[in-house]
Amino acid sequence: MENTNAEKKTILSGIQPSGTLTIGNYLGALRNWAKIQYEYNCYFCVVDLHAITVRQVPAELRQNSLKTMALYLAAGIDPRENAIFLQSHVPAHAQLGWVLDCFTMFGELSRMTQFKDKSAKHADNINAGLFTYPVLMAADILLYQADLVPVGADQKQHIEIARDIAIRFNNTYSDTFKIPEPYMPKIGTKIMSLTDPLSKMSKSDPGDGSVFLLDSRDTVIRKIKRAVTDSGSEVRFAEGKDGINNLMNIYAAFTGKTYGEIEREFEGKGYGDFKLAVGEVAADALSALQDKYNVFLADKAQLDAVLTDGAERASYTANKTLRKVYRKVGFYSVNK
Ligand code: TYM
Repeated sequence: MENTNAEKKTILSGIQPSGTLTIGNYLGALRNWAKIQYEYNCYFCVVDLHAITVRQVPAELRQNSLKTMALYLAAGIDPRENAIFLQSHVPAHAQLGWVLDCFTMFGELSRMTQFKDKSAKHADNINAGLFTYPVLMAADILLYQADLVPVGADQKQHIEIARDIAIRFNNTYSDTFKIPEPYMPKIGTKIMSLTDPLSKMSKSDPGDGSVFLLDSRDTVIRKIKRAVTDSGSEVRFAEGKDGINNLMNIYAAFTGKTYGEIEREFEGKGYGDFKLAVGEVAADALSALQDKYNVFLADKAQLDAVLTDGAERASYTANKTLRKVYRKVGFYSVNK
């Protein structure tokens, strides 16, 4: 079945099942997908091929793929309206990835900040997949002729390279790929670590820097209470107050309040009261999400059915683009 309504624009996005999702993934990506899902033709992928660029325990990867899917559903993504699928279930991703590798330059991949960060973190495993990661991501996006890619700020550079690759391919042959744009929320697009507010909150941070979507209420409140802040006490968004700015960003994203409103709400109160309030709104939001998540995760037959249907819908569109690409580059096909 096709997943397209010609009047709607198309969206594709994905999350790596490389650990438990954080409130960064939720506020920067997942929550926004749920908000816009009915306005666009949407493809939401769990990018398991990307996850193995860093060594994974196989049983955990399988489990994390299902958990990530269950979190998509718990966040309100409607599988009747959208294709929800695993990247490894649609071979066209890897197939187009190879073709696009041949249209991507060594120099441009060397400049990717995520590659530099990850190769520093995993110095014993700087594999070729880690290096060509952005090309596979370009394939994810370009296969669906996506107009928009809703992501957090850290993925902007990857969308730029996807655009460059698409333009290069189109210029070499003729118009083949739609040139995608990033789509970012105003707030929540860059949630920082609670223990180091100068670095991004990340799934792979094992410590107290990240709030995970499956953390208990007490854990959420404790982590936020201990978040690193400066020695002041005034709740105000200001240059250099990275810890407080980050907590204000989190509070604003969960409550919809502006920074001005937050400053007025906490006038005359200290950081302690503010941190407790941030912890409580985050914990409330996560406990509602977890209730739904537990129901979805327990129904494996339903998850499998969603994945089967999602892969079928995604394959239909992806194979259409792949056939076009194979023809343009000159691969012979047998007329049946
Ligand atoms: P990943 O799995 O690291 O993150 C998934 C999404 O969450 C966003 N995000 C954040 N947003 C705000 N604050 C944070 N601290 C934070 N951490 C993560 C990311 O920007 C992303 O939107 N390469 C991608 C996965 C991918 C993809 C794609 C995305 C593969 N193919 C095609 C879009 C389209 C990644 O590693 O995301």
